[in-house]
Amino acid sequence: MSQIETKIIDGKAFAAGLVESIRADVAGLRASRGIQPGLAVVLVGEDAASQVYVRNKAKQTVLAGMHSLEFKLPAETPEPELIALVKQLNADPKVHGILVQLPLPGHIDSSKVLDTINPDKDVDGFHIINAGRLAVGLPGLVPCTPLGCVMLLTEALGDLSGLNAVVVGRSNIVGKPVAQLLLAQNCTVTIAHSRSRNLAEICRGADILVAAVGRPEMIKGHWIKPGATVIDVGINRVPAAAGKTKLVGDVAFDEAQGIAGRITPVPGGVGPMTIACLLRNTLTAAKRIEGAG
Ligand code: GUN
Repeated sequence: MSQIETKIIDGKAFAAGLVESIRADVAGLRASRGIQPGLAVVLVGEDAASQVYVRNKAKQTVLAGMHSLEFKLPAETPEPELIALVKQLNADPKVHGILVQLPLPGHIDSSKVLDTINPDKDVDGFHIINAGRLAVGLPGLVPCTPLGCVMLLTEALGDLSGLNAVVVGRSNIVGKPVAQLLLAQNCTVTIAHSRSRNLAEICRGADILVAAVGRPEMIKGHWIKPGATVIDVGINRVPAAAGKTKLVGDVAFDEAQGIAGRITPVPGGVGPMTIACLLRNTLTAAKRIEGAG
């Protein structure tokens, strides 16, 4: 039996190109209008993974020529104090994008904090206004990881019209918005999740399979339709040989070889696109706020 040769979707390379074009755009904006897009990132607590993400975001922001502000608050910060900081950033003309790193400590109401962010500065696209705009097809700021997924898909496949897309996962951060974006691309979209019956069978109907469940290697090779394009959003740290750990996705990557037509690796697939899209959203927000096209 002839096997499919599975192509790797190189998110790292695509993201690097995107960041480079953003960098050039930022340089142009600074030279012609004296505008430097600014991104404020707020981290509450000492969650190790969040600290790595936030450090990486700040580094990439500076590399793109943007102004980077970091706010690190103790885990026990009272909610009103965090809300006051967000309001201060809303009013700061040097800040065009505000990102509050999730998850927040349990005593803080995340929705309340996210909905305090000025929707025009909401570069995560999590404000209820931006979620609503996406749902009804109005322009707004769109969540970064879903945007990165759809950019990789259109780059790999071109027109997505009429394709069957299955999204496994229904979070507000990835599952729901990526489903909305795929619908806007005229896909036939199914949202499946951990309670779905016949999950394997649903997945086997997918021309595009987006895995965003946060469970290491849950999607097996035989769940994938031959030739399908697989976007793996999962980043799971698992034990490896010799007492070490490694990162794996939500898809059993090795099993997918010879079955999937295309697949994103973990790491180096969707991950780098998230930060690239965050910079893109910050640039978009800065241009809108400053009336610079
Ligand atoms: N935590 C995990 N992913 C994200 C994200 O995309 N944005 C924010 N703010 N927090 C996260």
